[in-house]
Amino acid sequence: MKILLLGSGGREHALAWKIAQSPRTEKLFIAPGNAGTAATGENVDIKADDFDAIASFVQAQSVDMVVVGPEDPLVKGIYDYFAADPALKQIPVIGPSKAGAVLEGSKDFAKGFMKRHNIPTAAYATFDGDHVEEGCQFLTTLQPPYVLKADGLCAGKGVLIVPTLEEAQRELRDMLGGMFGNASSRVVIEEFLSGIECSVFVLTDGRHYQILPEAKDYKRIGEGDTGLNTGGMGSVSPVPFADTAWMKKVEDEIIRPTVDGLAEEGIDYKGFIFFGLINCDGQPKVIEYNCRMGDPETETVMLRLKSDIVDLFEGVAKGDLDQRKVEFDPRAAVCVMCVSGGYPQHYDKGFPITGADIAGSVVFHAGTAIKDGQLVTAGGRVIAVSSYGATKEEALAKSMEGARAISFEKKYFRTDIGADL
Ligand code: AMP
Ligand code: GLY
Repeated sequence: MKILLLGSGGREHALAWKIAQSPRTEKLFIAPGNAGTAATGENVDIKADDFDAIASFVQAQSVDMVVVGPEDPLVKGIYDYFAADPALKQIPVIGPSKAGAVLEGSKDFAKGFMKRHNIPTAAYATFDGDHVEEGCQFLTTLQPPYVLKADGLCAGKGVLIVPTLEEAQRELRDMLGGMFGNASSRVVIEEFLSGIECSVFVLTDGRHYQILPEAKDYKRIGEGDTGLNTGGMGSVSPVPFADTAWMKKVEDEIIRPTVDGLAEEGIDYKGFIFFGLINCDGQPKVIEYNCRMGDPETETVMLRLKSDIVDLFEGVAKGDLDQRKVEFDPRAAVCVMCVSGGYPQHYDKGFPITGADIAGSVVFHAGTAIKDGQLVTAGGRVIAVSSYGATKEEALAKSMEGARAISFEKKYFRTDIGADL
């Protein structure tokens, strides 16, 4: 099979690494990819949301399947674009329709969906620019801290957690006043939930689903999960509290109602669902849905997925995912992300990278490029080092050894991935 994977980050390198291992993969293209994906297949210089260019390429190369990494092309409707074109509609797109991607694209839609299907989540209310005073009034009925979420996509920056009522009311006015442009024309105000987070992933064909290994990511820049939010500084799988009993609750109360709810509402969904969960005294609740895999969770989940991912994708396309098998590697996996100094604020790019070939770990490129034949940094998150271990401590030790061996100017990484669990 000829497969085209869309995207260019660490998540896509991990997916490409896994897809390339399948005996069913005859040829793998990655658009646009990065310096790491080039070693697993052929990079194609097309942007992941340039649908016309993607369609021409798919036809010219007789691509059999398109796998979508990031949310952007999904929210913009790549699934529907293919489905609407007689020449493309028989080519499966692994990823939901535009209507399904709204689970991630609109926080208000996601909250309404959960309410309709009795899926456990934080209490909430949504306000628009015509109801600022009502929103400020609603905040007075909540306990601090206050959680404010821009309704639309904000590249991970649209959620504010503020300690005082005055600040919350000010932020609400600013958000509804255009702080995040159109994305914050509506704001979801939520009850604050406390607990440890866990990311659960499923693949669904719209009727059946298969649960993939769970993971936890580490979003803050500093040790002990302190400082500014980032795209993710590392991940660990498995998550100890996500044991059989907890995962059964997740499946019964969250996963099945979500997949059934999508089908009941007539929403075409054939792809990954990412459940961002929080463990509130043993009760899993949904913090958010995403319509794609997580980054950097994928960099550990793919290590622990023993099954052939292309076989699972075929199950998604054919609607017989229940007939496919998902096996987990019992070992722990830990990913440590090497980032550019200064990230997530200002950082420089183009620094030469050496030592990126590491024995004993799997190296996934997140933001790299080749310049004049030299591997260089090309983003905030640069390289993820993922390792197996009998325990998460052993896996972390290996990934840190790898992260130390990689060298580029102003490199930074966290040394405590998984330590809180
Ligand atoms: P989201 O983009 O909805 O995942 O929110 C980003 C982050 O904000 C989450 O990963 C949580 O750490 C935090 N967060 C979001 N909603 C809540 C909530 N209701 N209670 C506590 N923390 C939250
Ligand atoms: N790691 C969280 C995300 O991918 O959104």
